[in-house]
Amino acid sequence: MGVLNVENRTLFTCDNLPVMRGFNSNSVDLIYLDPPFNSNRNYAAPIGSQAAGAAFGDTWSLDDIKREWVEDLEAEDKAIWGSIVSAGLISGESIQAYLTYMAIRLMEMKRVLKPMGSIYLHCDPTASHYLKTLMDAIFGGKNFRNEIVWERIKGAGKTSQHGYRSFGRSSDTLLFYSVSEEYCFAWQSVMMPYSDLKKNFPYEDSKGPFKRRSPFRPPGLGPRPNLCYEYKGIFPPHVSGWTVKASKLQELDEFGELEWVSDSVVWRKQRPGLGIFPTSLWTDIGIPVGKERTGYPTQKPLALLERIIKASSNEGDVVLDPFCGCATTCVAAEKLNRQWIGIDIEPKARELVIARLKKEVDERALLKAAGGKRVDVIHRKSPPRRTEADAPKRSPNIKEILYKKQSGRCNGGCKDGAIGRALPIDIFEIDHIRPKSKGGPDFDDNLQLLCSTCNQSKGNKTMKRFLELQGVRFTKGDRE
Ligand SMILES: C[S@@+](CC[C@H](N)C(=O)[O-])C[C@H]1O[C@@H](n2cnc3c(N)ncnc32)[C@H](O)[C@@H]1O
Repeated sequence: MGVLNVENRTLFTCDNLPVMRGFNSNSVDLIYLDPPFNSNRNYAAPIGSQAAGAAFGDTWSLDDIKREWVEDLEAEDKAIWGSIVSAGLISGESIQAYLTYMAIRLMEMKRVLKPMGSIYLHCDPTASHYLKTLMDAIFGGKNFRNEIVWERIKGAGKTSQHGYRSFGRSSDTLLFYSVSEEYCFAWQSVMMPYSDLKKNFPYEDSKGPFKRRSPFRPPGLGPRPNLCYEYKGIFPPHVSGWTVKASKLQELDEFGELEWVSDSVVWRKQRPGLGIFPTSLWTDIGIPVGKERTGYPTQKPLALLERIIKASSNEGDVVLDPFCGCATTCVAAEKLNRQWIGIDIEPKARELVIARLKKEVDERALLKAAGGKRVDVIHRKSPPRRTEADAPKRSPNIKEILYKKQSGRCNGGCKDGAIGRALPIDIFEIDHIRPKSKGGPDFDDNLQLLCSTCNQSKGNKTMKRFLELQGVRFTKGDRE
């Protein structure tokens, strides 16, 4: 198992891709992500709310996509890239850009998750169908566990004077995948109490409430000769027999789990047990209201995160939210004694995490969990460095390093031509000198900067072939 190289309660305020690239492999137990949904909207928190000043965009075009991501995805797996391209053919450039952005991050999430780990991807019908095929391609269809439908709001709202053209959109989707078939799922911890115990279990004895259940199997289930026996003068009314064998029935009777209404009428007692086990339809959790509401656009309810964390992790486990917003996951994880790491590109996240932990988590419990020390959130603005032995040697600030090394010049075919002069860093793209598809490693040594024109013409070619085609002499100093 990998060792986590980031401390508990660390919040990164920067892009999550380089941050996750800096995490050791197999070091996280659970990931919940609630990324932008490709909603074609921009979000901002209302002035005066706790989250005022926070904002993020959710519109996508191919200009947002880096060429190296496309190359990485193409080289990684045909199914992953194929699912993105087919979505683009069906729905256009915006969805292709969005899925490329998501895929490169989801692949990193799979790498950092432990083999027994799980991931919950929160999305909505705008892209949930495309994200599911992408998740199947990355995590494997056999590791799909549930498509959870979370009913955000009840009802479709007020009657519209213009009428309606479709049913009200009241739900989000959570795609739940595990990394393998051996994964943590603590089902007992998410049992729900009966909302109306008296109505559901109207009878009571010294052991508590129960409801009556027939001790006989329904006739439609067919004959079961071994379950057709006499017990205290009673024979089953059908050839389908009793529900249990004779020895078990006697045991139930001795433990007071049969109710004798008369000598000829008997019931089995059904107890409430641990409660109701949730299905994949979650209608009992509403959007955050009252004190919980921070004003952060798209804030999710604590109860939703608590259910996920309780089901898919144990105390002390590491929970990661790479799009943590106003830190709902971090607060829920803290309350449930899990370790957590949050990442959000929005600098406002730092203030919100600190304020929410203070307000929503019992301070004494926090101090106890931290061994009596003051609990501080560790704030970082730059990615960590992987510490495992086989970590690829790619520096987090590789672009700046290469820019300096190449004195601001392109390493491609244009270097000997008219453009052979220093150019601004923004126009450069990182290229694998030996392409990833041909086994080129993701090491500093195998990387160079090309202007986007040269990078496009190089594609998956080796440097030698590319320069030959450009009519540039391949010299000893050039890397093949
Ligand atoms: C839908 S919101 C998450 C809301 C969160 N679940 C909550 O309860 O507050 C998506 C968040 O992703 C952040 N975000 C967008 N792109 C990001 C990126 N590349 N890296 C890190 N965070 C990003 C946005 O700033 C925004 O806060």
